[in-house]
Amino acid sequence: MSALLSFPDGFRALVIGASGGIGQALISQLRIHPRCSALYAASRGGLAPDGVTGFALDLTRPETIAPAIAGVVAEGPLHLVITATGILHDSTGGGPEKSFRQIRADHMMEVFAINTIGPALLARAVLPHLALGTQSAPEKAVFAALSARVGSISDNRSGGWHSYRASKAGLNQILKTCAIELARRAPHAVCIGLHPGTVDTALSRPFQANVPRSKLFVPAHSAARLLDVIDTIDADRTGRVFDWSGAEIAP
Ligand SMILES: NC(=O)c1ccc[n+]([C@@H]2O[C@H](COP(=O)([O-])OP(=O)(O)OC[C@H]3O[C@@H](n4cnc5c(N)ncnc54)[C@H](OP(=O)(O)O)[C@@H]3O)[C@@H](O)[C@H]2O)c1
Repeated sequence: MSALLSFPDGFRALVIGASGGIGQALISQLRIHPRCSALYAASRGGLAPDGVTGFALDLTRPETIAPAIAGVVAEGPLHLVITATGILHDSTGGGPEKSFRQIRADHMMEVFAINTIGPALLARAVLPHLALGTQSAPEKAVFAALSARVGSISDNRSGGWHSYRASKAGLNQILKTCAIELARRAPHAVCIGLHPGTVDTALSRPFQANVPRSKLFVPAHSAARLLDVIDTIDADRTGRVFDWSGAEIAP
């Protein structure tokens, strides 16, 4: 279990995308964490395990976001917010492009709505309510969104997956921009992107055939490593993207 000692004892956490493979694993670990005093789980279904407050939110319906987050922050400021939402296939089953010839506006719009615009709207709703502590005793607060290594423009060597790659590159830019603004008001706050590794979830399942078993993480392993990374990142590295090992991913 990640120690999460960089957060105050009794920290308050929220996971959005709590129904997903990685989101569920994050909830499982935070739910039994001795330092976490309040845990909220957002998903489209709104369900949550015992001891966790669940609520419903759909990123493709922006009007559902602000009221849902308002209900959570009314109970107290948040120290840890992790956005574990995202899609690779759209709701019609359309998958990532193999060539620019396959680019479709409807697929790209849905992928951007959920992977880029959704987390941006969450940031708008959540960032003003991150815990700050006091001037003499500042507290660490983190807004982390699950991004992907393929969102790196400089690391793109194979082409394909235009919508997903671009949606994550856009997400990374949103996170960087929010981090700059957040630092002015909250010098101890952190706003970062995270690459979870290749993880055995519904999202990656159609593409696991060529992944060596040793490189395919179970969600619990990825979640534990991501919490370790979150624990080590301070405000001096806000705005960047890190992988599950803590290595920075180039923009
Ligand atoms: N798995 C990997 O190998 C891998 C690699 C790199 C990056 N990532 C990133 O990690 C994140 C989590 O992925 P995962 O592997 O855990 O995928 P997953 O199991 O498919 O979970 C995706 C989550 O996104 C939620 N979601 C989808 N559309 C939504 C919407 N309109 N509004 C609210 N929530 C919505 C899903 O909720 P529902 O249950 O309601 O559908 C689910 O909770 C994603 O950002 C993904 O891009 C994953």
